[in-house]
Amino acid sequence: MSKNILGISAGFHDAAATVIDQHGEIVYAGHAERYSKIKNDANLHEAMFWELTDGRHIDHIAYYETPWKKQLRQLYSGQGIEWNKLTTRQVLKQQLRGYFSGVPISTHSHHLSHAAAGFQTSSFDRATVVVIDAIGEWDTISIWGAEYRNGRAEYKRLWGQHYPHSIGLYYSAMTARVGLKPLEEEYIMMGMAAYGRPTATTFIKNALIENEWELTFQQNLHAGVDDIFLAGVPNGEIASSSQAFCENLIYNVMRRAKDFGWSTNLCYMGGVALNCLANRNLGDYFEKIWIMPNPGDAGSSLGSAALVYGGPINFQNAYLGTDIGGAYPVNAVLDCLLRDKIVGVASGRAEFGPRALGNRSLLADPRGPDIKDRVNEIKRRQRFRPFAPVILEEHVNDYFDMPRGWVDSRYMQIVGRCRRPDLFPAIVHHDGTSRIQTVPADGSGIRELLEKWYVVTDCPMLLNTSLNIRGEPMVNDRSDADRFEQMYNVRVCS
Ligand SMILES: [Fe+2]
Repeated sequence: MSKNILGISAGFHDAAATVIDQHGEIVYAGHAERYSKIKNDANLHEAMFWELTDGRHIDHIAYYETPWKKQLRQLYSGQGIEWNKLTTRQVLKQQLRGYFSGVPISTHSHHLSHAAAGFQTSSFDRATVVVIDAIGEWDTISIWGAEYRNGRAEYKRLWGQHYPHSIGLYYSAMTARVGLKPLEEEYIMMGMAAYGRPTATTFIKNALIENEWELTFQQNLHAGVDDIFLAGVPNGEIASSSQAFCENLIYNVMRRAKDFGWSTNLCYMGGVALNCLANRNLGDYFEKIWIMPNPGDAGSSLGSAALVYGGPINFQNAYLGTDIGGAYPVNAVLDCLLRDKIVGVASGRAEFGPRALGNRSLLADPRGPDIKDRVNEIKRRQRFRPFAPVILEEHVNDYFDMPRGWVDSRYMQIVGRCRRPDLFPAIVHHDGTSRIQTVPADGSGIRELLEKWYVVTDCPMLLNTSLNIRGEPMVNDRSDADRFEQMYNVRVCS
């Protein structure tokens, strides 16, 4: 068994690296963008190599997909071949720039890396795994039966769909249709969906779908849809209809996955698993649900390393990246919140995944009508987008209706209906829902902060949004936090 396994997902978008040790502990997992300050940076950053090893020797490198298969698909789709990216060795030579030379390398399948990142970080001994993304090498949807045998994870492929038939590419095409950036701003279109009614769902189905159950499309949506598609229909209505139809497609996959009867446990992975609106109904198909908090391609750095490790991975939380060190500044944050209502936190290890979960967060008092505008002054994002609440887990049912099958939402993966939108307008979306982060009694800094905040204010929640300088990825280290303080005149506690 390899001692320290380095998993890599890089060369396309949102490059990331993960190190798993011989005991199945995650030593490090981080995104390149946090170091280079380039959002979704496709290439690994040299500063990561120092951090991820932390004096350890790397014994094995696992790459998250098979380059020649991907190149073949790119040739098929008219994108041409990149001759210098045909083998894993070629790709890693560019990405690693001389580091870790001589270390054995293995290559894995894109969707299997997704599946492993889900199943092996879950608490399940046996699970149905569903992967839905834009494209792997050729795969776009896959269903797996996963179980441990003699301590090693085994995966049986039960069903799959291939390029160009893709739910992810469909959603990206509609994202571009409403004027947003595909493969990056899908979450903004999801927020836009609350501002219209799904009046065009049948039109979309008739125009684009060949067979809804088989998930085949009439055309390749890789290049998007024509500008005249749904001409004259307001963006809110396009977004709402696109979302509603996307949910139909996802639930068709879930129904099929359930029908295999492999397990009532679901591990759901791939970029489409970030759709927290669609996720709210997964409880209609499965009893227990696990979505690893980084289900997109960056999370497959962990998945490919997990495939080499073989056994269950000890996944305790998503705080796995750069370590600023020191204790969580509970009292300093509390003082700032009571005085200024808004405060930044940059403490401990950075989150692995797209959500700030308290260690690289901008926190605010969620009560009252003016707080959203004040936070928006700093964030300058589209005014229609709401902020998210972070709440003590034992109080979540007092304030939100949680969807069936979800007892918590530790990683902000679902929406629930807010019961008191009048009291907390800043964290409630136009459709009355909130994207919730629940915090269990896990000894984390954010937990201790919420407990003290509750004692003082009788309010068990805070507004939580990512701490980032406009246009940049999340703050990573203390020097980023210093820049944030200077630019926005908001204290960032460490
Ligand atoms: Fe993927």
